[in-house]
Amino acid sequence: MNSLRISGGRRLLGRVKAPGAKNSCLKLLALSAMASDTCTLTNVPEITDVHTMCQLLESLGASTAKRPGGVIEVDPKGIGPLEPPEDLVRRMRASVQILGPMLAKQGYVRMAFPGGCPIGSRPIDLHLKGLAAMGVRFTEEHGHICGRVDQLQGTDIHLDFPSVGATENLMAAACLAKGVTTIRNAAREPEIIDQQNFLVRMGAQIRGAGTDTIRVVGVEALGATTYPVMPDRIQAGTYMLAAAVTRGDVTVTDMVPEHVDALVAKLAEVGAAVIVSEDSVRVVMGDRPGPASIKSMPYPGFPTDLQAPFAALLATGRGTSTVTENVFTSRFRYVDELVRMGAQITVDGRTAVIRGVPKLTGARVVAPDLRGGAALVLAALMADGESVIDEIEHVARGYDGLVERLTALGADVRIEEGLELAVSG
Ligand code: UD1
Repeated sequence: MNSLRISGGRRLLGRVKAPGAKNSCLKLLALSAMASDTCTLTNVPEITDVHTMCQLLESLGASTAKRPGGVIEVDPKGIGPLEPPEDLVRRMRASVQILGPMLAKQGYVRMAFPGGCPIGSRPIDLHLKGLAAMGVRFTEEHGHICGRVDQLQGTDIHLDFPSVGATENLMAAACLAKGVTTIRNAAREPEIIDQQNFLVRMGAQIRGAGTDTIRVVGVEALGATTYPVMPDRIQAGTYMLAAAVTRGDVTVTDMVPEHVDALVAKLAEVGAAVIVSEDSVRVVMGDRPGPASIKSMPYPGFPTDLQAPFAALLATGRGTSTVTENVFTSRFRYVDELVRMGAQITVDGRTAVIRGVPKLTGARVVAPDLRGGAALVLAALMADGESVIDEIEHVARGYDGLVERLTALGADVRIEEGLELAVSG
C-alpha cells in the first residue's frame, strides 16, 4: 500500500482541468460489451477502476486497447459465457454494471457479488428485481449470482429508490429487449444522460434520461461508436473545495457547471466567491467558512460523493455545522481520521455535528474509502505541518493525476511507495 505525504498550509492557486468522469466511463465501458463491433471512448480518466473494468471485460472475452491521450477501444466480438474472476469483481462496486449488458448480449451472466468502497450496506436487489421483471431467472449460490434469459421482455418498472446503478443496468438491458420498457422513479444523475447519449449513438431508442421516467424501445442490435466521456463532476467539485479549504483561488476548467449547482450554492452560502462561466468555475476563499447544514440527496440534491470533502471544509469553519448522509448507511469512516488531525466532530446516526476549529494539525491517517480519502487529502492540504495518508490506493481509484494536479496548483504533495506503518509502543 502506498501513502501520500502532504506539507500543509499552502494556498492553492491557478487552473485545473476536470478529467473524464469515472462514474460514467465505467458504465460506458460495460455498455461497449453490447456493441456488434469496436467502440472507442475518449476523455477516459487514468484511474485504477478503469483498468479494473477493462480487465473485467477481457475476462469475459472482449479485447481492450489503451491509446495515448485517454482513449480506450473495446472490441466485444470474443465475449462468451465466461465468469469473471472474483477478486476483480470484488475490487469495485461498478462490476455489477456488467449484469444488464451481458444478459442483453448473451442471455447469461454469472459473477460474484460486487465489492467496492466500504460505505455501508450496498445491496443490488433493485437491479435484480428489475431484470427479473424483464424475464431473467436468477439463482444465488456461494456468494455468486447467476442469471439466465432467452429473450428479455420490455416492461414497466417502478424503482423503490432512484438507484443510479439499477437505472443504468435496466436501461442497458432494455435496449435489446423485445418491446417497450418504462423505468419510473429513475435516477436523474448526469451520468445517466451520458449513458443515454452513448447508447443512442450505438442505435438505441431511449428518451427521458435526466428525468424520473425513462422510456426505451428495444432494438435488434447495437452498433459501434466513438464517444467522449463527460467531465467528472465529483473530481471537479473536489478541486473547487480544495480552493476553499486552502483559502485559495482555483478555476476548474473543462467541466459542466450545471452539474455542481448544489455545491456552488453551498460554497456561496459559507462565504466563498464562486464565479461560474460556460465551462469553468472559479472559487475564491479568503477567510474561514461560515457554518452550514449539508444533506446528501440523489441528484440534483447535494451529492453524497462530496459529503466527506465538504465536511473537511467545515472542520475549520466558524460555528457549528451539520452533515447528514441520506444515500448510504455508513459514510462517516473518515471522521475518526479528521479527529486525529484536530477536528471536533461527533456522529449521531446519519448526522455528523462539526464544531469548527481555527486550524487542523498534520497527522498520520488512513484513507478509509475513495471519497473519505479525498476529504483527508483536503484536510492535509490546509493543516499545519506534515500529514501522511496511508492506503492512498482508495483515492487512486477515482482521482486522475491527483498529485500532478495538486502540485500544479502549488501544493507540496508526494507519493511514497510501500511506506511501512509506524509501530508505536
Ligand atoms: C453510484 C456511484 C457512487 C455514488 C452513488 C450515489 C458509480 C460507480 N458509483 O453508486 O459514486 O455515490 O451512485 O450517487 O457510479 N440500493 C439498494 N438496492 C439496490 C441498489 C441501491 O438498496 O439494488 C441503495 C444503496 O445501498 C444506496 C442507495 O440505494 O443506499 C444508492 O445507491 P445507488 O444510487 O445504486 O449507487 P451506486 O450506483 O452503487
